Amino acid sequence: MERIQKLIEQNVFWLILLTILTVSVAMMVEILPLAFAKSTTEPIEGVKPYTALQLAGRDIYLREGCYNCHSQMIRPFRAETERYGHYSVGGESVYDHPFLWGSKRTGPDLARVGGRYSDEWHRAHLMNPRDVVPESIMPAFPWLAANRVDAQSLPDKMRALRRVGVPYTDQDIANAVKDADGKSEMEAVIAYLQSLGLALKNKR
Ligand code: HEC
Repeated sequence: MERIQKLIEQNVFWLILLTILTVSVAMMVEILPLAFAKSTTEPIEGVKPYTALQLAGRDIYLREGCYNCHSQMIRPFRAETERYGHYSVGGESVYDHPFLWGSKRTGPDLARVGGRYSDEWHRAHLMNPRDVVPESIMPAFPWLAANRVDAQSLPDKMRALRRVGVPYTDQDIANAVKDADGKSEMEAVIAYLQSLGLALKNKR
């Protein structure tokens, strides 16, 4: 026994190899079960796939880099749940590809912003944040009101999402262009924001 221990501790090759092996096994034991656990792979009650317009809004949210300042993950601490609402759970994000968790909070977490403000508030805020929050350092996004949503691209996006498990029906996909056609990017982003976190909205 002592000889084996000496060999491992004094030979850098064995030390590195066995360290990597130990850490890998420990990681697999922690991570692999999560990939199969229902709590992380199945939607909780009330979580629905994004509508075509909300999905378009989500893509604009990504394009504009809103996630650089806003996380969508409420941690299970008193200070967070008092401010934002129920902490985030995996089953809320199963239809999110890519997910938008994170901890970068130049602005507030948006995981439960749905229904917190009116559409008019969001419009005014995105046109110029300082009009509604005088001390705000958030940039303005006025072009969202001028740009139209690229509705034609939505059926393909929904088909792609269906392949990774989002349960869009043929009907959803057939109606996608009609749902979003002619809408402004502003309307799409607001529709997306208003959909966030509704499943656990009234829980604490
Ligand atoms: C440079 C950082 C930054 C970027 C980029 C940014 N925001 Fe913000 N955002 C903030 C800050 C700071 C606040 C808090 C002050 C305020 O309400 O304006 C905020 C507030 C908000 C709020 C109100 C949240 C609440 O609970 O009161 C919403 C909604 C929001 N941002 C949406 C967006 C969207 C959508 C985008 C992308 C189009 C975006 N933000 C981009 C910094 C940013």
